[in-house]
Amino acid sequence: MTDLPPLTLYLAAPRGFCAGVDRAIKIVEMALEKWGAPVYVRHEIVHNKYVVDGLRAKGAVFVEELDDCPLDRPVIFSAHGVPKSVPEAAQARQMLYVDATCPLVSKVHIEAERHHANGLQMVMIGHDGHPETIGTMGQLPKGEVLLVETPEDVAALDVRDPAKLAFITQTTLSVDDTAGIVAALKARFPAIVGPHKEDICYATTNRQESVKAIAPKIDALLVIGAPNSSNSQRLVEVGRAKGCAYAQLVQRATEIDWRALSGIGSVGITAGASAPEELVNEVIDAFRARYAVTVELVETAKERVEFKVPRVLRETA
Ligand code: F3S
Repeated sequence: MTDLPPLTLYLAAPRGFCAGVDRAIKIVEMALEKWGAPVYVRHEIVHNKYVVDGLRAKGAVFVEELDDCPLDRPVIFSAHGVPKSVPEAAQARQMLYVDATCPLVSKVHIEAERHHANGLQMVMIGHDGHPETIGTMGQLPKGEVLLVETPEDVAALDVRDPAKLAFITQTTLSVDDTAGIVAALKARFPAIVGPHKEDICYATTNRQESVKAIAPKIDALLVIGAPNSSNSQRLVEVGRAKGCAYAQLVQRATEIDWRALSGIGSVGITAGASAPEELVNEVIDAFRARYAVTVELVETAKERVEFKVPRVLRETA
């Protein structure tokens, strides 16, 4: 018998690690095994403090710029991608580097280059200052990629030739908000070319869909993820847009505001693409300590995507 109050936890699926994050973490772990510590990593390999701290404990050193790396140690570029100038500089210095850019981000880089080669100016839908946006815009010469964040930015765009335009997007945007910006671009520039819908990746799309499925069932939503994780922040926004009056990002169980949750009967839980399942379990355990919990899994898709690590790490010698 328990006198804990009853609570239903709706666990969204898919949630947590995507194939690109999984690969990036493996790359750092395998580099440490192959070359020993320290291995340098330019920028947080993925946006999650728990993951970064775990790799740091194994001998990874996180820096913001290539200039902060010694020439005689391997350096890894983060999953978000880097401007072209970064691998070029590493090559010029004869550094050993491994690129952990998610293959779905690399695909956007290739798209941008292809359009540029065809004489088109690029419009990127993305968040100013996010490393992925910096990396993607940095694939082309300065001024060739114009950034828009909102439909209002589209109205203010000053383009070279409206007949020669293409658009690309960040991979971790809100599917619904991006559709509005794409519509604004197509309305203002009917000749603009782009991907079939946008470049938002399967993992971002699936995690947003699963939040939409649990939103009508819950009194509150907790998204496990880091404040600088774009896809995690979008999950909070999707929850709010779908009617969750209380939707919060928490990095781990210690950040849960129990007072704000008092009196509720159901909570939705999901995790951003860079948040490990250990943290989901930690949050569930924290609820179990305070409530008589029933867990209901709400699965809206199955994911079987896997990416190989670069060949240099698969070779034994
Ligand atoms: Fe790649 Fe999407 Fe994850 S772009 S890193 S699979 S969130």
